[in-house]
Amino acid sequence: MSDTKLLFEPFNIGKITLKNRVGVAPMTRISATEEGFVTNKMVNYYGSFAEGGFGLIITEGTYIDDKYSQTYYDQPGIAFDEQAHEWKKVVDAVHSAGSKIFMQLQHTGPLSQGNRFANETVAPSSVQPKGEQLKFYLGEGPFRLPREITIEEIVDVKNSFVDAAKRAKSIGFDGIELHGANGYLLDAFLTEYTNQRNDEYGGTTENRVRLLVETIQDVRKAVGEDFTIGIRISQSKVNDYTYKWSGKEQDAKIIFGTLGKTSLDYIHVTEYKAWKPAFETGKDSLVVLAKEYSQLPIIANGQLEKPERASEIINNGHADIVTLGKGALANHDWVKKVQNGEPLEEFDPEKVLQPTAVIKDFEL
Ligand SMILES: Cc1cc2nc3c(=O)[nH]c(=O)nc-3n(C[C@H](O)[C@H](O)[C@H](O)COP(=O)(O)O)c2cc1C
Repeated sequence: MSDTKLLFEPFNIGKITLKNRVGVAPMTRISATEEGFVTNKMVNYYGSFAEGGFGLIITEGTYIDDKYSQTYYDQPGIAFDEQAHEWKKVVDAVHSAGSKIFMQLQHTGPLSQGNRFANETVAPSSVQPKGEQLKFYLGEGPFRLPREITIEEIVDVKNSFVDAAKRAKSIGFDGIELHGANGYLLDAFLTEYTNQRNDEYGGTTENRVRLLVETIQDVRKAVGEDFTIGIRISQSKVNDYTYKWSGKEQDAKIIFGTLGKTSLDYIHVTEYKAWKPAFETGKDSLVVLAKEYSQLPIIANGQLEKPERASEIINNGHADIVTLGKGALANHDWVKKVQNGEPLEEFDPEKVLQPTAVIKDFEL
């Protein structure tokens, strides 16, 4: 039997206290209305994780403006006050069951496959995205060739993150998480092959992390000190699972070291298997490197649904919180079940995902 004691103890992140260290990972549902409004289905979905004992819920990636940020049709937005207003139902459902909730703010960048506001995509550089659109989200064929985003538009993007964060705060979210992972806009800036810019946002790793840092700084200025701000970081992308930072540990040092000097409250690290070495050349996982170089609280994600895996990464001090994706979908009451010593359900895409799942799309 693994020692799950610490896993179920409270943890302070930013200025808030989580009742335990187990969270739900951000997971896109495409179950909002066409106009990006929250539906009752979403209220019930998020509420049920809170009822099931999770201390923290991070929402699905939510688009931030009416320009180029939307990723999928029927994705929820927080681009307008009216959309924010509807999210309050989700916040209230989660809070009334005693959990905390962060909103994941997403700008899709090159990987949009359904944006009702635009017929083109923007990215750091005009580079054809690898792979094909995700069938799971009803996409088909190659991604569009993005247009290089201008400096003026980069300012717009930062402002959109700021406005979205202010809206999230105003309706009671406990924090926001910038989606800096998986190939979307912020990660596309971070990634060498999608960022071929010659200005201050391209070239060196220090330059490629600049937009992430500036966004964090702008959001912090707007929301104040008492609102939790995190960022999600990965190496892999939804359209390039096996990608690794070419500068390996040196890149990790620069990226996490730079993020650690900002006013961020946490880094959420996602890898296919959170405990595995990040690079062939060393033994440390990305989670360990993130903690070492940033000195910030770390949320770990990636196949941690076995209680012994989840507690090991917390007990050995590598991470402070774990999030579960597929394990949470299969067990909305994962926390209660583990606390009561009840058996867990295996993840079965047919049962818990809609539309018909192509689960390999999510082997991140
Ligand atoms: C259905 C589904 C939707 C997802 N949507 C998002 C998302 O909106 N934002 C994000 O950062 N990751 C997203 N992911 C990735 C998960 O947050 C998580 O990193 C991944 O499932 C691996 O964790 P796991 O092994 O616990 O499932 C999604 C994963 C799944 C299965």
